[in-house]
Amino acid sequence: MQKQLVRFNNSSVGYYFGGRISKIKEVVGSTRIIFITDENVFAAHEKQFRNRDTVVLKAGEQYKIQSTIDYVIERLIEMQADRKTVLVGVGGGVITDMTGYVASVYMRGIAVGFVPTSLLAMVDASVGGKNGIDVGAYKNMVGTIRQPSFLLFDASLLETLPDTEWRNGFAEIIKHASIKDAPLFKELEQSNLAYYQKKKTHLAALIRRNVLLKTKVVQQDEFEQGGRKLLNFGHTLGHALENQYDLSHGQAISIGMAYASSLSKKINGFKSAERVIALLGQYGLPTSIESDKDKVINVLRMDKKKVKDSVNFILLEKIGKAVIKEISINEIYETL
Ligand SMILES: NC(=O)c1ccc[n+]([C@@H]2O[C@H](COP(=O)([O-])OP(=O)(O)OC[C@H]3O[C@@H](n4cnc5c(N)ncnc54)[C@H](O)[C@@H]3O)[C@@H](O)[C@H]2O)c1
Ligand SMILES: [Zn+2]
Repeated sequence: MQKQLVRFNNSSVGYYFGGRISKIKEVVGSTRIIFITDENVFAAHEKQFRNRDTVVLKAGEQYKIQSTIDYVIERLIEMQADRKTVLVGVGGGVITDMTGYVASVYMRGIAVGFVPTSLLAMVDASVGGKNGIDVGAYKNMVGTIRQPSFLLFDASLLETLPDTEWRNGFAEIIKHASIKDAPLFKELEQSNLAYYQKKKTHLAALIRRNVLLKTKVVQQDEFEQGGRKLLNFGHTLGHALENQYDLSHGQAISIGMAYASSLSKKINGFKSAERVIALLGQYGLPTSIESDKDKVINVLRMDKKKVKDSVNFILLEKIGKAVIKEISINEIYETL
């Protein structure tokens, strides 16, 4: 396993590309590990958890809530986790978000590392230090920004990932390409899901490219004062839809990106909205939904990025270049 040390403002994170979860000891040394995972990942990779302290949680976004955090804390106390224990979140973005959050508050903060097991968590959720939970319809309403000690990328874990979850991962990959990486956008256009599932070296390269793309954005603006906001492309509307319509995160932001692309065409002279929408479709993602406008707008009003009666909306100027624009909620209401 090759370690790459990545610097953030107050910490450095060890990135292990081409890693193996079975080699986790090489990463953490003799320190005590407690794994946090969900029931699907546990069932699919039982061998990896044998003879290990593990807290297994119910799977799904609906459990990314405070009561699950309370349960984890109780289990950690029972297991006598102390300040020297390392929590290792092994799972999709729901698990890495919650493990990061628990680790940041348990005993005022203990060490944490992630072994992302979904494509989405590998290319996005595990990277950058944001963690947290949902409160009702409000996504990620509570949480912190705190970097993990390490990220271990083991692409072989994806062999058990259902196809729908692969598609969800591509939503964030298409997001990265749209806002920052025009050559990647072209590569994606010339390819498809089956290709990356089959070609292991291309998949590894794709994961690495997306991890490093996001890392660079976060390094330049860890606490989201400016450039990091661009990563919210598709997310303002996406988040408003996600928990109300029982959509996965990937599906919700796909619809959000399709809408943001059309809006970019309308008010920002963006010429390639059709290409973004076609690419999302090419990777099996939805690009529209029958929704209740008023319900969606109400959630938008509560969006964390809201300033007065407008929201900071991410628009595209061209493929590979995004901008932040303040847009009134009324304008969004009219164009929905
Ligand atoms: N912190 C961040 O910066 C950030 C960024 C993007 C997304 N997120 C969050 O990530 C979450 C979405 O992540 P996700 O799509 O990974 O969801 P998820 O964690 O719910 O995983 C999706 C499904 O795949 C299953 N699964 C995961 N790995 C598997 C494997 N290897 N084999 C079989 N099944 C497997 C899970 O059990 C789950 O059912 C959302 O809550 C979102 O808010 C956070
Ligand atoms: Zn996202």
